[in-house]
Amino acid sequence: MHKVIFDTDPGVDDAMALLFLHNHPEIDLIGITTVFGNAAIETTTRNALFLKREWGIAAPVARGEGKTYNPMRNPTDWPVMIHGHDGLGNIDVPEAIDLPVDPRPAHRFIIETVRANPGEVTLIAVGRMSNLAYALKEDPEIAGLVRQVIIMGGAFDVPGNITPAAEANIHGDPEAADAVMTAPWKVVVVGLDVTMKTVMTRRRLAELTAQNGRSLKLLSAVSQFYIDFYGRHVEGEGMVVHDSCACIYLVAPELFETRSGAIRVVCGGIADGQTIQKPDARSFPPGNWDGLPSQHACIGIDAEKVMALLDETL
Ligand code: BDR
Ligand code: CA
Repeated sequence: MHKVIFDTDPGVDDAMALLFLHNHPEIDLIGITTVFGNAAIETTTRNALFLKREWGIAAPVARGEGKTYNPMRNPTDWPVMIHGHDGLGNIDVPEAIDLPVDPRPAHRFIIETVRANPGEVTLIAVGRMSNLAYALKEDPEIAGLVRQVIIMGGAFDVPGNITPAAEANIHGDPEAADAVMTAPWKVVVVGLDVTMKTVMTRRRLAELTAQNGRSLKLLSAVSQFYIDFYGRHVEGEGMVVHDSCACIYLVAPELFETRSGAIRVVCGGIADGQTIQKPDARSFPPGNWDGLPSQHACIGIDAEKVMALLDETL
């Protein structure tokens, strides 16, 4: 069984990824921590509670601080044209959900859960890296106690999606992402290089919904607005399933090709939030970043098999 804390900003593709984690028989979802990104922290936390209630998820929800790692950055802009005003595709999520939030802030929840399960917990982070960076700052030793960190974020050999250089999750808190990439734990980065190849078509989602009923019905309702956006701007009649890819990596890493090497994040300037890797296979330029941990960037994917596994699990 894989013990997972899901750090998320629900978010339409986050909702799909959450249902994947909840349904997969080899995954034990032991916590959901929320971060701002697709919407403000109040909204993403309310959405996590809403999905927990609707899908009968047992894992507790712990709320993030709602601020960037670098206090000079001030997140105020949310991608309402992609995820809707409610962060879940404008389905009119109730204002308040009658479920308790864990009393600890997200980063504290991460620290205590990792310490209680040394060597066993995988952190899957599919929003800004703020909570992970705060956890590392407060308790750097957790780096040696986490099994692995799987991130949806970044773009190495392809353009970004929020600027030509940067992917949204990394761009939203670059200093946090740089702290996470350079810490001495295993990080696997599942970025736009691979996620842009994974598309759930509107028709396939409708077929799955017809077969499966209630959970899929909600997911399908949540997804229509996002599919409309992607249809207008990117991929035709379907949605890119970014966050699910990070979850699928956990159970089927053989479906991904990775490249190892130190990873840094640009913090400032026109390439703010860009992810850069120095592959281990390259010795040039010599000496640069040699003391940093070698991390794993996904650069290839068997998209057909990934989508088949997603279909089957949802
Ligand atoms: C990432 O940004 C968010 O909009 C999505 O939920 C995903 O995590 C893609 O760049
Ligand atoms: Ca997300």
